[in-house]
Amino acid sequence: MSAFTYRNGVLHAESVPLPAIAERVGTPFYCYSTAALESAYRAYADAFAGMDASICYALKANSNLAVIRTLARLGAGADVVSVGELKRALAAGVPASRIVFSGVGKTRAEMRTALGLGIYQTNVESLPELEALSEVAASMGVVADTAVRVNPDVDALTHAKISTGRKENKFGVDMELARSVYARAASLPGVRPVSVAVHIGSQLTDLAPFRSAFERVAALVLALREDGHDIRRVDLGGGLGISYRGEVPPSLADYAELVRATTGGLGCHVTLEPGRSLVGNAGILVARTVYRKAGVHRNFLILDAAMNDLIRPSLYDAWHTILPVDEPARDAAEEPMDVVGPVCESGDTFAVQRALPPIGAGDLVAFLSAGAYGAVMSSTYNSRPLAPEVLVNGSEFAVIRKRPTIEELMAAEEVPAWL
Ligand code: LLP
Repeated sequence: MSAFTYRNGVLHAESVPLPAIAERVGTPFYCYSTAALESAYRAYADAFAGMDASICYALKANSNLAVIRTLARLGAGADVVSVGELKRALAAGVPASRIVFSGVGKTRAEMRTALGLGIYQTNVESLPELEALSEVAASMGVVADTAVRVNPDVDALTHAKISTGRKENKFGVDMELARSVYARAASLPGVRPVSVAVHIGSQLTDLAPFRSAFERVAALVLALREDGHDIRRVDLGGGLGISYRGEVPPSLADYAELVRATTGGLGCHVTLEPGRSLVGNAGILVARTVYRKAGVHRNFLILDAAMNDLIRPSLYDAWHTILPVDEPARDAAEEPMDVVGPVCESGDTFAVQRALPPIGAGDLVAFLSAGAYGAVMSSTYNSRPLAPEVLVNGSEFAVIRKRPTIEELMAAEEVPAWL
C-alpha cells in the first residue's frame, strides 16, 4: 500500500497532511515515508532470506543521512561511488565492512581513504584503475579485496542514458578481456581478485536482461576458477525498476529466484546494489502552483518547483504522476495542462499536455515516485536554494535537510581583491 494517500480529502504522507509540512517548511520540498523505506528494504531482505546475500543500498539514489540511517538500522550495507558517499554511509551508521566502492574513475586519494577504513570490496572498471588500486594498497601495506566489473554486452532495454551494459558504454571491462585482467590482478601485490561484478542499467522492468547478464557472470566465474582464481563472491549490481506509470516491474521473489537459478550453484556470496527500488516510491516532491497561464494553444501550470529540483523529466523525459494535494471531486473533468517550472529554459517542463483535474493558483501538487534520483540530482541553477527534505514517521515529521538561505549559497564565493 502506498504511504501517500488521500485521507479526508487531503493527500497525506503516512498520517501527516502535506499542507501541514508545507506550512512549516515552505515549498517546494521533498517528503519521504519511513514506512515505505522500511517495507521496501524488508521486501528485499525477505526475498533473499536464506541466501548468502548482502543488500548494499546504492547511495546515489538518495544519500540523505536520515534515509541511509533508516535503511542501515535494518541491516543494509552501502554501495558508494565517491568518498563523499563513503563518508555519508559511515556517518549514517553503515559499518565499513559492509561498504562496496563502485565507480568508473576512482582517484588514488579516494582509494587510499577507502582502504584505510577497511571497506568490504572495491570494484574496478579498467586495467589502469586496477593497477592504481594495487599501487595504493601496496603502499599502505594492505591487500584490497577486489571485483572487476565486467561489461556483459547486454541490452538492458531501458532509457539510453541509464543503460550501462552495452559494449559502447564506458562501464566495466569487456567480457573478452576479463580473463586477462584477472590474470594481471593475480600478479599484482595490492589486490586480491575475489569477486566478479556487473551492473547493466537502471529502471529495468524485464528480467530477461538480468538473466543474460547473470548467466555470463556465472560462466566467467567458472572460467576464472579454471584459471586458478579463488572467486568467492559475485556482485550483481542494482537496476530493478519501479512503477512510475503503471509499469509492472518483476517481483522480488522472481528476481531472487533468478539470482538463485543463475548463480546459486557457484557457492559465492552475493552482493546486490539496489537504489531506486528501495527509495523511489518512498518519496514525493511537493510544489505550489504559482500561476495558471492560458495560452492560445496550451494552458500552463507554473509551479514553484523547477528542473533544478527534479531533473528527471527534462533529462530522461521521465514521467512522474502529478496529484493535487486537495483531492479532486470524483467526477472532476480533466484538462490537458503543460506543467512547468519558473527556470528560463524550455526544458524546464515536468509534463506536456497532462490530463489533470482542475488545479488553481496557490494549490499544492505532489510529484510521486520522486524518492530516487530526485533531491540528489538537484542543483542551485538560477540561484534557487535546494529544496528541503522531510522525513515522515507515522504522525510525526522532521526536517532532514533544511532549505539554505541565499546568503548561505553566496557564502562560499569570494570577490577577488582586484575587484
Ligand atoms: N550499482 C551501480 C554500479 C550503479 O551504477 C547503479 C546506478 C546502481 C547500483 C543502482 O541502480 P538502481 O537500483 O538505482 O537502478 N539518474 C538516473 C539513474 C542512474 C543510475 C545510475 N547507476 C535516473 O534518474 O533514472
